[in-house]
Amino acid sequence: MPDPEDGQVLIRHSHLSLDPYMGSAIKGRHMSGKVLPGDVLPGETIGHVIASRHPGFAEGDRVISRGGWQTHSLAGAPAAGEAGMAAALSSGAHVLDVADGVPVSAYLGLLGMPGLTAYAGVVEMLAPRPGETFLVSAASGAVGSAAGQIARNMGARVVGIAGTPEKCAHVIDVFGFDACVNRNLPNWKADLRAACPAGVDAYFDTAGGDMLSAALGCLAMRARILLCGMMEQYNSDEVLAGPNLGPVLARRARIEGLVVYDHWHRMERWRALATDWLLTGRLAFKEHCVVGLEQAPTAFANLMAGRTFGKTIILIKD
Ligand SMILES: NC(=O)c1ccc[n+]([C@@H]2O[C@H](COP(=O)([O-])OP(=O)(O)OC[C@H]3O[C@@H](n4cnc5c(N)ncnc54)[C@H](OP(=O)(O)O)[C@@H]3O)[C@@H](O)[C@H]2O)c1
Repeated sequence: MPDPEDGQVLIRHSHLSLDPYMGSAIKGRHMSGKVLPGDVLPGETIGHVIASRHPGFAEGDRVISRGGWQTHSLAGAPAAGEAGMAAALSSGAHVLDVADGVPVSAYLGLLGMPGLTAYAGVVEMLAPRPGETFLVSAASGAVGSAAGQIARNMGARVVGIAGTPEKCAHVIDVFGFDACVNRNLPNWKADLRAACPAGVDAYFDTAGGDMLSAALGCLAMRARILLCGMMEQYNSDEVLAGPNLGPVLARRARIEGLVVYDHWHRMERWRALATDWLLTGRLAFKEHCVVGLEQAPTAFANLMAGRTFGKTIILIKD
């Protein structure tokens, strides 16, 4: 166990977030950097300061930082002036003020990076108007469930795509979507067209591949498509062929990419809004919690294979 040096704190982790980008980082093709053999796997953590040699932190403070896949980490304060990607990937720790009635783990999911991704993509980029049809893939996951609920709160008609009947039922019953299509049924593309009779005005794409192709086949005129993630590609060693873009031309559609790091300065605004919505019943979230750091590799493989249901969090025991 290392001792903190001047300006550092020693943190004992209680929660570790598992996120799909880590798969790309391991493959060496993520903008956050490469993970090399022998490196600690990256990941956002919540924990408590157990020794402090920094005036801004006291023993017992709850902090959020990028502590990685380990039980303890050393951190300093964030460097002054860090913004955007540098702030998102900072090695500094932040004292975490947990609002009354909000579970601590939510700050790694709905009130953290995945929730901010949904907020930026829906509010700042797709901007659905009341009555428009909003479609989102991986609809029961951390990003997709938040994106759909934000669009619903903005007055859109919201349709999801998910991988099992249980996920689809939860998306409708708990997240309040208008419809959800099971992508593992043989006729799911016909089901998607039936669920979007007026066409898709805004598509929040977390998957790429077949789901992007299917969504392009349902576009309304002047549709907007947000490329947020490529789940269909992450497990492949090859870059997959792109979809036919004919419908984009015919429907005068617009495609835009999202990188959450560009929106990091919006975190506090999103947290305030999401906390209000959460506490007043206008936002819900689901977590897939796994106990024990030693379970993280299996949990991560399950996340990348689509076998998890909700935001994956590792609860780290003492
Ligand atoms: N651009 C950014 O800045 C940014 C930031 C955060 C996250 N993201 C992206 O947003 C997406 C969702 O992230 P998340 O953390 O909320 O994950 P998640 O939804 O909790 O998990 C991923 C889900 O993707 C679905 N999926 C669709 N096609 C898949 C396939 N071929 N293989 C495996 N799973 C597949 C699965 O759900 P079903 O089986 O129910 O379809 C799976 O559960 C990811 O692509 C992630 O990389 C992007």
